[in-house]
Amino acid sequence: MESISPKRFLKFLFIFVCIAASFTYSTSAVRSVRSAIPKTSTDFIRRSCRETTYPRLCFSSLSIHASKIQTSPQLLAATALNVTLSSAKTTSNVMLKLSLSHGLKPKEAAAMKDCVEELSESVDELRKSIGEMSRLKSRSSSKLMINDIQTWVSAALTDENTCSDGFGGKAMNGKVKSVVRVRIVNVAQLTSNALALINRYALING
Ligand SMILES: *[C@@H]1O[C@H](CO)[C@@H](O)[C@H](O)[C@H]1NC(C)=O
Repeated sequence: MESISPKRFLKFLFIFVCIAASFTYSTSAVRSVRSAIPKTSTDFIRRSCRETTYPRLCFSSLSIHASKIQTSPQLLAATALNVTLSSAKTTSNVMLKLSLSHGLKPKEAAAMKDCVEELSESVDELRKSIGEMSRLKSRSSSKLMINDIQTWVSAALTDENTCSDGFGGKAMNGKVKSVVRVRIVNVAQLTSNALALINRYALING
């Protein structure tokens, strides 16, 4: 029986280790180059969302629209606004129904009434922003238009926070208070994220 000399064995081992090492090195190098450029829309959305205050909510609400967003900061901001509007509209309807329900304490009824108004203003402001966003094309007017959008979205956020603050007091019923706060806080977080993405888009285009 032929046996492999220890010297030969070491030589083979050395070659094998070299090949394995170079293979590992090159694949990891390729991987790090790849991750530096957002290749996919999902990757782009994750990266952009990292700059918002609520990155996980940002990613979960926007990644489902990845095929539409592609890797466009403008489409990302526009989609964030659309998602926010749809959530604000739903919440506004829920609040309107709740405000008409019986058994509310006078303080709750008053806070609810204010909230319904604030939310409807917030919905209007988001609508105006979306309208302006869809008209953003010519570079000459875009700075002023983005300014308008930023102002309206900030106003929407203020309205939502005012509504939520109205339910902060101890006088409020636990159930109504928690339903309202969970919903409003969600809308406010979506709005805050949309504003961050708009600001990011404004920076890129500035
Ligand atoms: C957002 O909604 C508006 C109005 O419905 C629509 O025209 C626009 O295409 C939507 N934008 C995106 C990116 O989905």
